[in-house]
Amino acid sequence: MSGVADVHVLCASADVPEPGSRGFAIDVGGETPLRLFVVRKDGRVTAYRNSCPHTGAPLEWQPDQFLDLDNSFIQCSIHGALFRTEDGLCLRGPCVGQSLRALSVRVDSGRLVVDLPVEDRGSGTD
Ligand code: FES
Repeated sequence: MSGVADVHVLCASADVPEPGSRGFAIDVGGETPLRLFVVRKDGRVTAYRNSCPHTGAPLEWQPDQFLDLDNSFIQCSIHGALFRTEDGLCLRGPCVGQSLRALSVRVDSGRLVVDLPVEDRGSGTD
């Protein structure tokens, strides 16, 4: 059973370009912050934990750069895995068929807000 979500305001919605991405580390009460990132592409906003299913490493190759060069896919900087932006499924690379861990994100009064379920509280790592 899923409990009540913790609500975290990330930034102004306009702070994530179309197409584009931005990374965050938020305090969830654990020893380490929760690392996540938001992607905006084709008018849709999605959020994932910043942890590659291959090794658990963070994905970005530069701060806030989670997309490949033509902004088609999320790309892991370590071994180049490519993930669909809409659902985080890996289509190419060492973790094909696995998915990034999606988080619930929404636009609320011009801000990007993530809702963390109980199981994501208190842990910044998988
Ligand atoms: S750590 Fe991401 S593809 Fe290997």
